[in-house]
This record gives sequence, C-alpha cells and structure tokens, in this order.
Amino acid sequence: MEILIERDAEAVARSAAGVVIDQLGANPRTVLGLATGSSPLGLYQELAAAVRDGRTSLAGCRGFLLDEYVGLPAGHPERYRTVIQRELVDQVDLDPDRVQGPDGLADDLDEAAARYEAAIREAGGVDLQVLGVGANGHIAFNEPGSSLASRTRPAVLTQRTREANARFFEDEIDAVPRRCLTQGIGTILEARHLLMVVAGEHKAEAVAQFVEGPVSARCPASALQLHPRVTVCLDEAAASRL
Ligand code: GLP
Repeated sequence: MEILIERDAEAVARSAAGVVIDQLGANPRTVLGLATGSSPLGLYQELAAAVRDGRTSLAGCRGFLLDEYVGLPAGHPERYRTVIQRELVDQVDLDPDRVQGPDGLADDLDEAAARYEAAIREAGGVDLQVLGVGANGHIAFNEPGSSLASRTRPAVLTQRTREANARFFEDEIDAVPRRCLTQGIGTILEARHLLMVVAGEHKAEAVAQFVEGPVSARCPASALQLHPRVTVCLDEAAASRL
C-alpha cells in the first residue's frame, strides 16, 4: 500500500488527480471505476481543469460506478448516475454513453447486479478504481460484516450511513433510500489499481483501522491490504491516528 500524506484536502485532490492523469497517459482507453460521495469531488475538479488545459483527456475512457441507491427515479439529483454526470461527466470529455452504474430501478435487482458484473467483465475489467471510505470503514456500500469475497448485489444501508448521507437529502433521513446495489468487495479488489482518497479528522479512525488494523469484514476497507497495488491519498487530519 502506497500512502501519500498531503497537507489538506486540496493537496490530496491534486495528488490523486496526478495518479489518474498518469494512468490516462499510459492508457488513454482506461476503464475508470468512479466513486461518488464528497471525497472524490476535488479530484474530479482537478481532472476537469486538466482537461480544459489540454493536460489530459478522458475521451477514450469508460466509466463504471461503484454503487447506486435503489428506487431513486431517473432525474433525482442524488441518484449516483446523476451525481457523476453533474460532477464529472459534464465537466470533462468523457462520453456519457460510456459511463454506467448498477440499475437501481430494475424489477429484478439480483439480475441487474449480475448484468453489471458482466458489463465490467466485458469491458476488460476496471484499470483504476477511485474509492472513498465511510467513517465506519465501508467501501462502496459494503457495510461492516460484508463478505470480503462479496460480488455486486442488492444490500441494505446501515442507519449510520443513512444518517451520514442525509446531508445530501436536505437532512431528511426518511428521504435516504434504505437499499442499494453495490459492487462487492471481491469485485472492487479485481480492479488493477485502487486509488483511495480520504480527507478530514472524522475519517481518521477508519483510516487507522483499514491501514493498520487486521483484515476483517468488520472494516470492509481493510480488504485493500490484500491488493497488490493500492494508492491511499490522505490529508494530515485523516492520517492523524496512523
Ligand atoms: C458513501 C458511498 C461511498 C463513499 C462513502 C464515503 O455512502 N456509497 O462510495 O465512498 O460513503 O462518503 P463521503 O466521501 O461523502 O464521505
């Protein structure tokens, strides 16, 4: 695990963007794994600036989202496919038709999960997966207790995660969906390079657990220790309990 500690969230965003830009330079047809949540937003802004300046291009890329809420209608502003459109796709030269997420509106969620796994496989797998971590150590929507070998599947959000995400739903906990479709931990570990982006003191305990604690389903992000190529970009606050 390569750990990069930067002064603040802005520096983290720049250093994480550098990792993505290097990857795009090495392979313009990179398959990118895209995370939502607040952690990667600075990285996406840095990428947008780099595309505007002609320093990089996502024109040849494909994108796969980590997860999706179940039941949010197509135009809902917090649906993850909509969020990634607004925060990344609309800001860069990535073809929207080449970006997909799990279908949280499918009648048969198990079937939608299997279809999503097949789509990732058919694209040749994810080259570079951007990740954030929840304060309870979750990655994507793999909550504590998820099997480290889990695959894309329907899952139930914990109360803690729904409370954490209520800020995106005008602090209305009842508006936060209870279920999701999420890539499994086993699915995420198949990406060739994992790029974890974390900032803030409120994540320091989760960071200490997943970097230095035991590999355990109690901390889903600790599964990253099993992966041969992981870059973790932290600010000093997030790194403060290492
Ligand atoms: C969310 C998402 C994750 C994200 C994590 C941290 O619930 N499903 O993909 O990485 O929790 O979110 P944030 O970056 O907003 O702290």
